[in-house]
Amino acid sequence: MSTSTLDDLGTPELVHVTEGQTCSDDAWEAAYKRFETPEEEIAKFLTRLRWFDAEQWPRDLEIVELFCGRGNALVAWDQLGFSQLEGVDLSATLISEYEGPARCYVADARELPFDDASKDLLAVHGGLHHLPELVSDLAKALDEAARVLRPGGRLLLVEPWNTPFLRMVHAAAANSLLQKASDKLEAFQQLYVHEQETYDRWRSQPTVILEMLRERFDTEKCSERWGKLYYLGRKS
Ligand SMILES: C[S@@+](CC[C@H](N)C(=O)[O-])C[C@H]1O[C@@H](n2cnc3c(N)ncnc32)[C@H](O)[C@@H]1O
Repeated sequence: MSTSTLDDLGTPELVHVTEGQTCSDDAWEAAYKRFETPEEEIAKFLTRLRWFDAEQWPRDLEIVELFCGRGNALVAWDQLGFSQLEGVDLSATLISEYEGPARCYVADARELPFDDASKDLLAVHGGLHHLPELVSDLAKALDEAARVLRPGGRLLLVEPWNTPFLRMVHAAAANSLLQKASDKLEAFQQLYVHEQETYDRWRSQPTVILEMLRERFDTEKCSERWGKLYYLGRKS
C-alpha cells in the first residue's frame, strides 16, 4: 500500500490507496461534471447542511468529508464558517480540482488515514453506494467511521434512496427523447450506466443498510425524501 495527500498548495504529496484499486473511470467523471455545475452543487450542499441544522454546530468541529470528489461540499462547509476541514477521495483527478483551505487525501474510505477518536464529524454526500461489496465494504467503511470519530462524534450521510421520486427520475432518464431534451437527464443516465452494478445493489438493500447504521450509531435524524436518505448518527 502507498500513501499520499495534497498539501495546502494543492501539490500531491502523499497517497493512501490500496494497491491495484482504481478510481472512478473517465467517462463517469465526465458525466459527473456535466450533471451539475460547481455552483449548483455547492448550493445543494448548503441546503442539505442547513437541513441537518449544521448552522447550530460549533465552527471548530474537526470535519472530514469522505468521498469528497472535487470538494464542493468542503466549499459549502467553509461557506458556513467551519474551519477544521479535511477531505478523502480515491480520485486524485477530482481532488486536484478542489481549491480551498481543506487538507485533502487520496485515500480509501475503508481504510482512513486518521487516528482513532480524532474527528468530530464525518460527512458523506453520495459515496457509499460506489463500494463494490455492499455488506463487507459498507461494514469496513462504517467501522472505520466509528473508529475515527470521537465519542459523541457524528456521521452525516446523504445517499441515493429508492423512493417513488427516484424511480420516476430513472424512468424519465432512460427515455432517449427526454435525454435529448435535457442535458441533465442525459448526464444522470450516463452516471447510472457507469455505476449501475453497485448503485442497484445499494438501492435494493435499504433494510440491511439502515440496520448496519443503527448497529454502530445512535440515530439523530433519518429521513427518506426526494430520492435520498438523509441520516445523522452519533457514536455513543
Ligand atoms: C458520486 S461521487 C460523490 C462526490 C462528492 N461527494 C460530491 O457529491 O460531489 C463518489 C465519489 O466517491 C469516490 N470513491 C469511490 N470509492 C471510494 C472509496 N473506496 N474511498 C474513497 N472515495 C471513493 C469517487 O472517486 C467519487 O469521487
